[in-house]
Amino acid sequence: FKVYQTMPNPDPDRLPVKYEEWEALAREKLEDGPFYYVAGGAGGEETMDANLRTFNEWKIVPRMLRDVENRDLSVELFGQTYVAPLMHAPIGVQSIIHPDGELASAKASADMGVPYITSSASTKSMEEIADVMGGAPRWFQLYWNKDPEVTASFLKRAEASGYSAIVVTLDTPMMAWREYDLKNVYLPFLIGEGVGNYLTDPAFRSQLPVSPEEDPTAAIMHWTHTFGNPGLTWSDLSFLRKHTSLPILLKGILHPEDAQLAMEHGVDGIVVSNHGGRQVDGAISALDALPLICDVVQDEIPVLMDSGIRRGSDVVKALALGARAVLVGRPCMYGLAVAGEQGVHEVLRNLLADADLTMALAGQKSIADLNRSVLMKID
Ligand code: FNR
Repeated sequence: FKVYQTMPNPDPDRLPVKYEEWEALAREKLEDGPFYYVAGGAGGEETMDANLRTFNEWKIVPRMLRDVENRDLSVELFGQTYVAPLMHAPIGVQSIIHPDGELASAKASADMGVPYITSSASTKSMEEIADVMGGAPRWFQLYWNKDPEVTASFLKRAEASGYSAIVVTLDTPMMAWREYDLKNVYLPFLIGEGVGNYLTDPAFRSQLPVSPEEDPTAAIMHWTHTFGNPGLTWSDLSFLRKHTSLPILLKGILHPEDAQLAMEHGVDGIVVSNHGGRQVDGAISALDALPLICDVVQDEIPVLMDSGIRRGSDVVKALALGARAVLVGRPCMYGLAVAGEQGVHEVLRNLLADADLTMALAGQKSIADLNRSVLMKID
């Protein structure tokens, strides 16, 4: 990630480097509906703000004279080695941000070797996304459908198209109270977009009286009725295990007792996340939850985290508090809004370079060496 050393001379037309500048440019490019759908959070956005604030409460305490000439950021997860402990978070409905949508994000991730997590609510189908990625690493994020046949079919399709893990998002059995989206009357528009994986699904299609090509509105209505599944309980997890041999991670875990239950139910990993502050306003920040959960998990299964990763120092702090890898959400979407595939590529590349430099300057050579002794909490 020798971005810093190879950076061209300053050029006023160059894409932004600062996260804040990407966000400001995205604001200029996008209409209110899509911009606030991405940038906004639930309720009064207390949790969304806390996600960023709590990163500032932890300080890195750099070490000197420790030979940091050669660094190793690679990480092993479920038997595969990835170039860095960073992934593209699952994000649905990306066609509202850029016409190339998920294909641009997936290609940029593939080029960087950053695993791309395809959302169930993508505008493109998981197969189309897999196609543009070639052999690059990818995981599939499952929204657990009310119709078990659709859920089983998604798992089967994900396996068949080369996804190597399933991330089951538990915190969104329904959309939260999102004040911008309500004001912008944006949800009805969104509903028609995130159906790429459903309209192409044989199990979903078999439930429809006529094909989606003949009656798209009826298909979309059927989707809205089956999308969320608030009736699920822990005992239902065995259904997923029965239908896939891929590693299963649960995304949206914030309570240590849920981490314990996850382990008892034999899942393979956890993603500590509050969905970027988009679901429960007033919920604990993801970074505050992370060490509590790692204390329970004791390295028995990998703990990943997201919600608030903006810079390389955030990556280092999350890893030092026990995350094996982090997922990045909104920064990629601002890159996509500003410059499509190139924008996502630039955002990921800068984040990796920043993380690498921060590691080096903190006196840390390998992510395996990061632990809480690297940090100090300032209240
Ligand atoms: C999301 N997120 C999300 N998560 C998921 O499991 N499936 C999805 O389809 C989506 N869709 C989605 C859309 C948009 C516009 C955003 C911003 C987020 C949540 C995402 O995976 C991740 O948890 C957060 O984005 C992480 O927080 P940051 O990095 O955005 O602060």
